[in-house]
Parts: sequence; structure tokens; C-alpha cells
Amino acid sequence: MAKLNPCKSLNSDLEHSSKCFAAYCKYARRPESKESWTRSVFCPKVVEALGTERKQLRALGIGSGSGEVEYWMLTELKNTYPNILHTSVEPCAEEVTKHKQLAQTNKSKLPGVLFDWRQQTFRKYQQTSGKSEEEHEFHLITAIHSIYFEPDLEKVLEYLYGCLAESGVLVVALDPDVDGVGQLRCQLPLAWDENYHYCSTNHVKAYFDKQHVPYTTLRRPCQVDITPCISQCSPDDDHYQSPASGEGAMLLDFLYQVRDFHHLVPMDDQRKLLRYLMSMCSSIDGDMLVRCDTEYVIVTKLT
Ligand SMILES: C[S@@+](CC[C@H](N)C(=O)[O-])C[C@H]1O[C@@H](n2cnc3c(N)ncnc32)[C@H](O)[C@@H]1O
Repeated sequence: MAKLNPCKSLNSDLEHSSKCFAAYCKYARRPESKESWTRSVFCPKVVEALGTERKQLRALGIGSGSGEVEYWMLTELKNTYPNILHTSVEPCAEEVTKHKQLAQTNKSKLPGVLFDWRQQTFRKYQQTSGKSEEEHEFHLITAIHSIYFEPDLEKVLEYLYGCLAESGVLVVALDPDVDGVGQLRCQLPLAWDENYHYCSTNHVKAYFDKQHVPYTTLRRPCQVDITPCISQCSPDDDHYQSPASGEGAMLLDFLYQVRDFHHLVPMDDQRKLLRYLMSMCSSIDGDMLVRCDTEYVIVTKLT
């Protein structure tokens, strides 16, 4: 693919980015719901790594968004660990409000779980978090699709690993860059700026390989329906126009991690990018589906 003009990354506008992520979640198709997958696949793996002896758990979430993943995780983990303190680091005010509402509405389902919300970026958290061992050490740290936002991935991983208590568990979820949307993002440095630094689980694995720290992985299959992005007309059409607003436009922003794809990406580039996206799709019942798996790297702190 020819060189593309750089644009602003989606993460330069957190509120818009959250809306685009919500559009993506709406069009993402997975064999299992978030609730079922978190309970039956993800949590057993985390409990296996953490062990069942401890009664108290200190957990940290980086880029928790509206807290849905954490919510399903905590409702399950509290069966094994009756006292949990969950610290959540999320810079977007609207997302933090949604997370608080979710926790408040479901208070009775989370007995023994205390929350500590920090509305700040990961970097700010690093600068301001307490220095005492108690405040600084966690048994479980999760970063689900949220560490593209720091320039130095290795430093982030080194810091997070350093925050783990003995035998603690770090879970980092990102795109695997081998196919579908992961491949698309890795091959197209379209909007890589100070707010977005592409990284995949391959980078995470390479870092822990270098440190001789063992890990296991889990893959959550997903396909996203991109039909709303091309509902107006095909990129081969003479009068091609990408959607300027609505779900199709938000989905395009999210897939390419660009702020305002429709207005900021030159028309020729838009056509190339959509053709490329469509070349990765399979058509099922008239819908255009592209792979968008998530891979989880699960690291246990060596003792
Ligand atoms: C793709 S969403 C994922 C949300 C959630 N983890 C989930 O899987 O549902 C990425 C989240 O990272 C947050 N984020 C953006 N920049 C960040 C930063 N510098 N530090 C921490 N989180 C950040 C965003 O506001 C957003 O809520």
C-alpha cells in the first residue's frame, strides 16, 4: 500500500473515542457474550494462576472504560476472593461516571468489593500513585486494549510487572497482529501520534521472552461487521463518499484509530483503505465481516 498522509489519532479525543468503541462493540460478533466468556474462560484461567489460598485481592485496571469487563470479572472472582479492592485508572470522565453507575446499580452483586476510581491517564497514575508497598502492590493487574497510549511499551510492562505482589498476575489484552483488523492497524501508520503507539501482543510476548518470564495466552475470537462503513456506496463507485456521521463513521474511526476519518483522510486514501479492508472481509448473509480477535497474555510474577 502506498504511503498515506498522517492524521490525528482517535485517542486525541477521549469522549469521541468512547463513542466509537461503543459502535464497534455493537457490530462485533463473538461466539460467546462478554459475561459468559469472562466467567467461563477468562476467570478460571486467572484463578488458576493466582491460586485459591488468598482471601483478599488487590486488583488494578488500566484503561477500564465503562468497567463492564471488570464488572463481570469481579462478580466471578468474589466467589474465590471475598474481599477485593479494585483500583481503576481511566482518563475519560464519562466512562468513569458509567463505571460508577454500573457499580452502584449492582452493589448487591458485589459484596466485599471496594472501588477506588482514578480519573487519570496511566502516566499520571504512575506519577501520583502512593509509594508505600501496600498502595503500590497488586495481586491482579488487567490492561484490556488500553496500552497503545504510551510511547514506550517496554517501560509500561516493566512498571506493571514491578507493581505485582509475589505470585501476582498481569493480564495484557491487545490485537494479535497476524490477521484482520490487527494486521490492518499494524501495516498502516495512519494516525500514530503522541496519543497512539501501535503495539500488539507479539510485542508483549517478545518483551517477556527477553526477560525470561513465562506467560500463557488466550484468544477470544471476534468478527466485526463493517457493513455500516460501506452502506452509502462502494469505494469503487465514481461518487464514493464515506459516511460523515453515525455508526458507519464511528466504526471507521475506531477500525483505523483515526479522529474523523471522513473529513481528515484524503479521498484517494479513503478509497485505498476501504478496498484494503474489504479485501480482508468474508461476506456472510450479506454482511461484511472482518476478523478482530483479542489475544490475552497472562503473566505470573516469578518468586
Ligand atoms: C478500547 S477502550 C477499552 C475499554 C475497556 N478496557 C474494555 O475493554 O471494555 C480503551 C480505554 O483506554 C482509555 N485510555 C486512553 N488513554 C489512556 C491512557 N493514557 N491511560 C489509561 N487509559 C487510557 C480510554 O479512555 C478507553 O476507555
